[in-house]
Order: sequence, then C-alpha cells, then structure tokens
Amino acid sequence: MPVDPESSQPLLRVEEVVKSYGSRTVLHRLSFTVATGERLALTGPSGSGKSTLLNCLGGVDRPDSGRVILDGVEVQSLASDALARLRRRTLGTVFQFFHLLPTLTAAENVEMPLQLIGVKAEERASRVRQALDRLGLGPRADALPSQLSGGEQQRVAIARALIHRPRLILADEPTGNLDSANGGIILDLLRELTDETHTALILVTHSEEAAAICHRRIHLQDGRAVIRT
Ligand SMILES: Nc1ncnc2c1ncn2[C@@H]1O[C@H](COP(=O)(O)OP(=O)(O)OP(=O)(O)O)[C@@H](O)[C@H]1O
Ligand SMILES: [Mg+2]
Repeated sequence: MPVDPESSQPLLRVEEVVKSYGSRTVLHRLSFTVATGERLALTGPSGSGKSTLLNCLGGVDRPDSGRVILDGVEVQSLASDALARLRRRTLGTVFQFFHLLPTLTAAENVEMPLQLIGVKAEERASRVRQALDRLGLGPRADALPSQLSGGEQQRVAIARALIHRPRLILADEPTGNLDSANGGIILDLLRELTDETHTALILVTHSEEAAAICHRRIHLQDGRAVIRT
C-alpha cells in the first residue's frame, strides 16, 4: 500500500515553544505533535500555562521563540490577514463560558463561521439546520443565548466550532461551567463528532472524565510537559 502523505505529516507540530511574561517563563521549550483526528488532553494546575499554550497554537498570542506549524503552515510567519484566514478555515474553538454572541439567535451564532468564509446562503441554512438537529437543538434554533441553558449554549458553541469543518478544535475547559450530567453530554458529543468528522481536538481540562475521551495526554507543570501518555 502506498503511504498516504496526509497521514505521514502531523496536523499540528509544536517545536520548542517558549513564552514568557516579563521575567516569568510560562512555556519552556515545549514540543509535541497532534495527528489528524487525534484527541489530546492538556492538563495541569492553575497557572501552568494551558491557556497560554492554546493561545499560541491558535495564533491569538505569539511565542517568544519556537514554531507552531498548523496544517503545513508556520503560524507565526503569517501576516494578520492570512492568519485570520487560517484561523477561520482550519480552527474551531470552544470556551468555558460559551462566548456566544448575545444578540444573535442559536442558528445565527452557528451560521457566523460560514458567513466569514463566504459560504452561500442556501448552503449555510441547510448546514446550520443539520448541525442543530444533530445536537438536539432544532426546536431552539431561534432562541437567544440568554434563553438557553448552559448545556444548550455549549451545544450551540460546539455546532459553531464544527460547522465550517475545521481540522482542529481548541477547547479550553468546555465542561468547566456545567453540571456533571451536562458535562457528560458535551464530552460524548465532542468524542462522537470528532470521530465522525476526523477532526483533531486539544482539550484543556481539570477533569479526569474529560481527559478520558482523549487518545493522549500532556500534563503541564510550570510550563514543562511532565507526563505524556
Ligand atoms: N497576559 C498576561 N500577562 C502576564 N501574565 C500572564 C498573562 N497571561 C497569563 N499570564 C500568567 O501566565 C501563567 C499561565 O497562565 P495560563 O492562563 O496559561 O494558565 P492556565 O494553565 O490556563 O490556568 P487555569 O487552569 O487557571 O486556567 C499564569 O501565571 C498567568 O498569571
Ligand atoms: Mg486557563
């Protein structure tokens, strides 16, 4: 069988990333890779650099040195408009506090990433409807975020993170603000949907239950990776 060039190259390659704030080094020459479709848990105590690392991976923040290569592109080498394009096409993000736009309905929040990459209105409508149905939110499509429960808001956020078929989802404590029943639903969905779409996931979490849906784990302690399984 010929080797598939897609699978021989990792989706994400982090090489010797260093990030300091003032005299305090938060990430110490961190290196790892993530394959297409792989789920990686990122654990570690508060202040260990998990969110800082996600921000460097997503191009929200810049490492002081080292390289982040996402889908074959060196993130730090891009000018801001090219970086915005890469982010819009390749990444989806999910946060602890959902970050939905409060004046838009559930359906409009989910539609936004498709508008940003120029998908036509008719296709947008059908993809949004399908995604909301898949997440059990069909009947809530026209609700505003303030009219939704926390678990529902996070399901909208997951639909929004996946709607444009990104290669990598960055999730920072996506179950941190939910009770355990709703947290469990969100974890099941993240696992099922990333399996179905072969999307990679980096999941920052304090919870063992959440880390358990991942194939591998990196544990940060003072910015160094101390356990990898
Ligand atoms: N913009 C900033 N300026 C200065 N220091 C910062 C900045 N952002 C983060 N830090 C510091 O860097 C360290 C790592 O922060 P980070 O937010 O990455 O931790 P974390 O692992 O995500 O923690 P938590 O689990 O509490 O979310 C902390 O000590 C934090 O105070
Ligand atoms: Mg954090």
